[in-house]
Amino acid sequence: MAEPGPAVRRRSRPARKRSRAPVQLRAAASPLACKRLSPSVEEASAEPPVWAAGGECTNDSEEDMFGDYDSFYGNDSLLAQVDDMEQVYLQDKDMDIKAAGEFMLGNLQSGTDQRKQSDFSTSENAAGHKAERDDGFQMNENDLIDNKEEPGDFILEDLPSSQFLYLEEMDELSSASRKSAGMERIDNYMNSCLDKISSPSFCHVAEHREGNTEFPMVSKCDLSKRESLKDHLKSAMTGNAKAQTPLVSKTKQLKEAILSEEICVARKTIESSSDDIGPFYGLPSKVKDLLRQFRGIETLYEWQHDCLTLESLHQRKNLIYSLPTSGGKTLVAEILILQELLCRQKDVLMILPYVAIVQEKVWGLSSFGVELGFLVEEYAGSKGRFPPIKRRIKNSLYIATIEKGHALVNSLIETERIDHLGLVVVDELHMLGEGSRGAVLEMTLAKILYTSKNTQIIGMSATLNNVGDLQKFLQADYYTNNFRPVELKEYIKIRDTIYEVDGKAENGFTFSRLLSFKYSSNLEKADPDHIIALVTEVIPKYSCLIFCPTKKNCENVASMVCKYLNKEFRAHREKEKKDLIKNLKTIGNGSICPVLKHTIPFGIAYHHSGLTNDERKSIEEAYSAGVLCLLACTATLAAGVNLPARRVILRAPYVAREFLKKNQYKQMIGRAGRAGIDSAGESILIVQEKDKQLVQDLVNSPLENCYSNLLPEFTKGIQSLLLSLVGLKIAVTLEEIYSFMCHTLLGVQQQLLSKEKSLLDIIKEGVENLIENGLLKGKISEKDDNSQSILAITQLGKATYKGSIDLAYCNALYRELKKGLEGLVLESNLHLLYLATPYDMIYNCNPDWMIYLRQFNQLSAAEQRVADIVGVPESFITKKASGQAIRKNMDSAIINRLYLSFVLYTLLKETNVWSVSEKFNMSRGYVQSLLTSAASFASCVLHFCEELEEFWVYKALLTELTKQLTYCVKAELIPLMEVAGVLEDQPK
Ligand SMILES: Nc1ncnc2c1ncn2[C@@H]1O[C@H](COP(=O)(O)OP(=O)(O)OP(=O)(O)O)[C@@H](O)[C@H]1O
Ligand SMILES: [Mg+2]
Repeated sequence: MAEPGPAVRRRSRPARKRSRAPVQLRAAASPLACKRLSPSVEEASAEPPVWAAGGECTNDSEEDMFGDYDSFYGNDSLLAQVDDMEQVYLQDKDMDIKAAGEFMLGNLQSGTDQRKQSDFSTSENAAGHKAERDDGFQMNENDLIDNKEEPGDFILEDLPSSQFLYLEEMDELSSASRKSAGMERIDNYMNSCLDKISSPSFCHVAEHREGNTEFPMVSKCDLSKRESLKDHLKSAMTGNAKAQTPLVSKTKQLKEAILSEEICVARKTIESSSDDIGPFYGLPSKVKDLLRQFRGIETLYEWQHDCLTLESLHQRKNLIYSLPTSGGKTLVAEILILQELLCRQKDVLMILPYVAIVQEKVWGLSSFGVELGFLVEEYAGSKGRFPPIKRRIKNSLYIATIEKGHALVNSLIETERIDHLGLVVVDELHMLGEGSRGAVLEMTLAKILYTSKNTQIIGMSATLNNVGDLQKFLQADYYTNNFRPVELKEYIKIRDTIYEVDGKAENGFTFSRLLSFKYSSNLEKADPDHIIALVTEVIPKYSCLIFCPTKKNCENVASMVCKYLNKEFRAHREKEKKDLIKNLKTIGNGSICPVLKHTIPFGIAYHHSGLTNDERKSIEEAYSAGVLCLLACTATLAAGVNLPARRVILRAPYVAREFLKKNQYKQMIGRAGRAGIDSAGESILIVQEKDKQLVQDLVNSPLENCYSNLLPEFTKGIQSLLLSLVGLKIAVTLEEIYSFMCHTLLGVQQQLLSKEKSLLDIIKEGVENLIENGLLKGKISEKDDNSQSILAITQLGKATYKGSIDLAYCNALYRELKKGLEGLVLESNLHLLYLATPYDMIYNCNPDWMIYLRQFNQLSAAEQRVADIVGVPESFITKKASGQAIRKNMDSAIINRLYLSFVLYTLLKETNVWSVSEKFNMSRGYVQSLLTSAASFASCVLHFCEELEEFWVYKALLTELTKQLTYCVKAELIPLMEVAGVLEDQPK
């Protein structure tokens, strides 16, 4: 295996490939199940990310334009246990089951790679299957012996789940009636194997180990578990078997031969740097076919051709390119990515701003991966392996969020593999100027630039202004063009008049028309901004997005519009809307938000971070399919999303209470008129008289500049960077650090950003601060020239860095853990939960004091002592609940943290996000992200403790807690857990 990573590598999970076979198959059973389960499946193989700082944070703020960014979440202990238990069982006894597992692996694997395909549909019996399986796996096993570092090239467990999804879809497409007799035999064979797999003896490992070879009597519950697993596996097997159609193999083989020949030519072309750029920009002509087939793209836009044939790219220089929204920027990046993967045979990292977009892209490119022979690996949410598996045969495209991209780069630097990263593509490059994510993106790019001279960087955005600074930072050339395939008309509305935004007009806009819709006085009162008039001009025939400043506002707008729509709107795609409501009810365990229940029949919904992830996905899908025609959303839907919108309405020029920035405005209106989806697009910004001047300034102003966030985001920015530079040994002397920092965006903009202090002073201060806080050791003094003296990371520094703890909290965390050593209340997990409650979440929390008191009163006496120990006395809660004034200054961080640990405590007991959100009067989206974030933070704290000997006792406790939290997050994993009987051990 690859060199073990720090901390987390201690857990050994031998031969996971076999133990996970049933899981993979379960995932492959249906696209939906597959979609839901795949994160967890990946997670089982994912090492927790320990390379990035500040990882525990999850943002639920609607003030943040890109609120849905990634959080570090990567715990696999529960799944590891599943793996381990299965493995113990498999190794111990039943070789038939092992054979079945491998057989299944072989089956799926052959679906993955037709070249290794064996037509098992003609197999005669179980032994025959096994023999074929052995043949099929001969090469794999050899390969494992050959190169232990990269088993992932052959075994199923390491094939990215995205490509399973693609294969699964192909399976679905293949004829359902082609079930051969051989396949039925496979069913029978599987039945017998599965009976064994799911037997109680499999579930109860200990029992089995004691030599109990007879299957004991099974309980009803065991039986039903067994059946469900069996059904899943059977249907997966059937699906996979169907895909093994020999009918296409000859043509397929021929096509593959042509493809590999073309790749060979392309590779040679690239190597010889000749001007002949091959059939399709140095790529096999198959790529062109695939673009036509999967995207409906017949020809490239002129600018795309110009850009791809730039001399800069020919010379492999870094490049920034900028075009209006919907200009088709992605395609250029994708062609460059394919060149790197196929012709230069290097890995590629693609960084996208948030989880949903990463998932969309993984889905979109997996088909290309399968057809062209590269791997697509998702690094978002709970997914991602650090360091990634070394691949020998195929190259990997890592598609990552900013945070995961950073962690991935750190892991590649640490394992000295950064050189194999040939290309890094950053979409929405203007994100460099966006708070802590901007800082993380800057660190990532600076580290790549500094450590790997051969890695090319490509950045793109629709909203860049100070390109010069960015070019200097990235040592990049620049390409720009004004092309937008679908015309976007921009309007603003003041009272009942609509003006067209016109750069040439004196005040920036000119009269366009009066609203034609006549309002009654009642309606005027209910809808003074004439939203109904504006939306009914387009819906239900076309789609419409309304950006609203707050979450509450989204819900109000959606409800209000429905109230005044006539009944005919209900008739439009009625059945599909009913299905959507049903689906949402299933997602909510029988509950559905009353607002959605009321609005969906009209084709309308709201969309914001208060929704659970599954709800959000369902709503987006329904909107994309035209079942819903209007979404009232917050700015989270603003950037990079390809949703249909004939008209985009901005309800007000605000995001929360902040006046809209120009690039936020541009991104929002850019959702209208997407190429290939709409043939026209228009935006309408609703403006009140009082804001007229500000809006005039807004439309006339240039885009905002992009400034480094390393300084403003102190602990998540420069401090975290300095710590990781030393931790990763990228730069360990002041001189080296200075040389590194000169090449950051902060280095480029230092005179602008810090007038009083030089960059060297900033660095010295930062390093001193880290030394004072016990995170670094070494000497930096004013007098001596210490630029050569070597800095090292301390144990606390290492713990902070390996645990991805935000530097702002590492000392507090240390103190609280230390205090816990003196008297941890272990009657329940409340005290531990408190320690694992993420600091980042406490700022979005406003305790309801009556609920606080009620929850406190429900605790046992020992549990109540936890409140006292952490510093929230009962008298304080009582006084607050009765509205009395309190003189003593209390630490609100501790108060909120305890409150959130009550939420988590209740969640662990009830495992129902809906009922807990009602109990605590919080949105279900918030409760869900608290839980995810806590699962992640618990694992971060565990890694923190692993580096500090004095906290040895926490290791076992936190491992268990992380498992419980993870279990709660992954409630949909229940069928998976049945496999190893883990369920019985979980809290009820
Ligand atoms: N050559 C082409 N022919 C037809 N459609 C194209 C072409 N290139 C891109 N498109 C389509 O145009 C749409 C918008 O492209 P894309 O998402 O790349 O825009 P973008 O420039 O990244 O916009 P944004 O800045 O808003 O993210 C996509 O649906 C894409 O498939
Ligand atoms: Mg884009």
